[in-house]
Amino acid sequence: MDLFRKKEINLNQTSGLKKDLKTSDLIMLGIGAIIGTGIFVVTGVAANQNAGPALSLSFVLAAIVVVLSGLSFAEFASRVPVIGGPYAYLYVVFGEFAAWFTGWLLIGEFLLAVSSVASGWSGYVQGFLEGFGIHLPQVLTSGYNPTNGTYVDLIAVLVVIFVTYLVSLEAKKALRLNNIMVFVKFGIIALFVVVGIFFVNPKNWQPFTPFGFAGVLDGAALVFFAFLGFDSVAMAAEEVKDPQKDVPRGIIGSILIATALYIVVTLILTGIVPFTELGISDPVAFAMRYVGHGTIGAIIAVGAILTLLTVTISMMYSLARLLFAVSKDGLLPKFMTEIDQKHRTPRKATYVAGIVALFFAGFFPLNVLAELTNIMALTYLMLVSLGLLKLRKMFGKPKSGEFKVPFVPVLPMISIITCLVLMLRLQALTWIVFGLVMALGLVIYFGYGYKHSKMNE
Ligand code: ALA
Repeated sequence: MDLFRKKEINLNQTSGLKKDLKTSDLIMLGIGAIIGTGIFVVTGVAANQNAGPALSLSFVLAAIVVVLSGLSFAEFASRVPVIGGPYAYLYVVFGEFAAWFTGWLLIGEFLLAVSSVASGWSGYVQGFLEGFGIHLPQVLTSGYNPTNGTYVDLIAVLVVIFVTYLVSLEAKKALRLNNIMVFVKFGIIALFVVVGIFFVNPKNWQPFTPFGFAGVLDGAALVFFAFLGFDSVAMAAEEVKDPQKDVPRGIIGSILIATALYIVVTLILTGIVPFTELGISDPVAFAMRYVGHGTIGAIIAVGAILTLLTVTISMMYSLARLLFAVSKDGLLPKFMTEIDQKHRTPRKATYVAGIVALFFAGFFPLNVLAELTNIMALTYLMLVSLGLLKLRKMFGKPKSGEFKVPFVPVLPMISIITCLVLMLRLQALTWIVFGLVMALGLVIYFGYGYKHSKMNE
C-alpha cells in the first residue's frame, strides 16, 4: 500500500478554459463568496453569546489567522495554478492520502457552508415575513431543538432544494449575477453604516469585553466563518490571465476588504443595539428597526436575502465541481463524474451535494453549522501551511514573479498554531461531529478510494 503516491503536475498543460480573469475579477469573485451569513447573521449571536461589543476585536483576530493561512495559500496558488485548489496542492507535496483528506475537508467545508448560508437566509426571510404579520408554525422555524419547540428549518430546506435545482441546470447564468450582487452587498452595508453611525450610543460599548479575553477568542473562532470563501479565488486559477500575480492579490485583497467592512459594521451594530439584545437571526436589519428606521431595515433585509442567495449558489457551484474533480480521480464513486448532456453540468454530483446539505440545513442550528464549517476549514488550512513547508523543501524558493511567503518557516508555523488555537475554542459537540466525519473519511478512503484511485493505472 502506498499512501504517499503523488500526482505529477504538468504546468505547461492547459485545461482549455479561457484565461481572461484579472485581479479585479478575482476580488469580485472573492467578495461574492466571502461576505454573507457571517456578517449579516452570525455577528448577532457572536456578540450576544461570546464577545459582546469586543466582537470587532474577534474579527481582527480571525482576520490575522485568515491572512496568515491566505499567504501559504497564495504561494501555492501562484506556483501550482491548477484546478482543484488545495486538494490538488496537497496531491503534489504529500501524496494521495493527505490529498484525499484535504478534499474531504473541503467538501465538508463547502457543504456545511451551503447549509449555514441557507440557514442564515431563512432567518432573514422569516424576519422579513414577520414584518407583514406572517409567522411560520414554531416547529418549522429552526433546526432540531425540542426544548424550544423547533424541529426543522423549512425555509432553509426549501432554499437548498431550489439552489440544487438551479445549479444543476443553469449555474453559469446564476453566477453571472454575482457581480451585480457584490454591488448590492456594498450598497446595503454602506446604507447601514451611513444611517447607523448617527445612532451609535457609546454607552452600549460599555463594558467592552463582558466575557473577557476568552470571550473574544470564542467570538473569533465563530466569526472565522465570515472569511471563508476566499479559497474560491484559488479554485479559479486556471481561468486567470496571470495567475502568479493575480491569484495572490485576489486572495489577500478580498480578505482585507472584508476585514475592513466587518470591523466597521460590528462597531456600529454593537453601538446601536445593546449586545444583550442581539441574540436574533437578522441583526443588521433588526438594528435599523430598533432605531425606528423600519423601511431601511426592510431594504437591508431584501438586499441580504438576494445576496445570501448568490453566496449559496456559488458555494453549491464550487462544491459540485469539487465532488466532480475528486470522483474523477477515482476517490469517490464514478457516477458523480457524469455530465448532463443537455446542460453540460455535473448533475448527479450536484444532487448528492444538495441532499446532504439539505439534511444539515434542516436539522442543525446556524451556530453549530458555522462551527462545523470552521473546524473543517481550519484543519485543511493547517495542512496547507504544512504543505508549504514541504513545497519549499521539494522545489526550493519561488522563482521571481511568483508569490513568496515571507519568513518561512516561521510564518507558516505561526499560522498552524493560530489555527489550532481557534479550533480549541470550539464546542465539544463540534469536535464529536468532526471526529465522526474524519472516521467516515477513513472508511471511504480504505473501503473505496484507494482501490479505485486513478493512481492505480
Ligand atoms: N463567508 C461566508 C459567509 O459569511 C461563508 O456567508
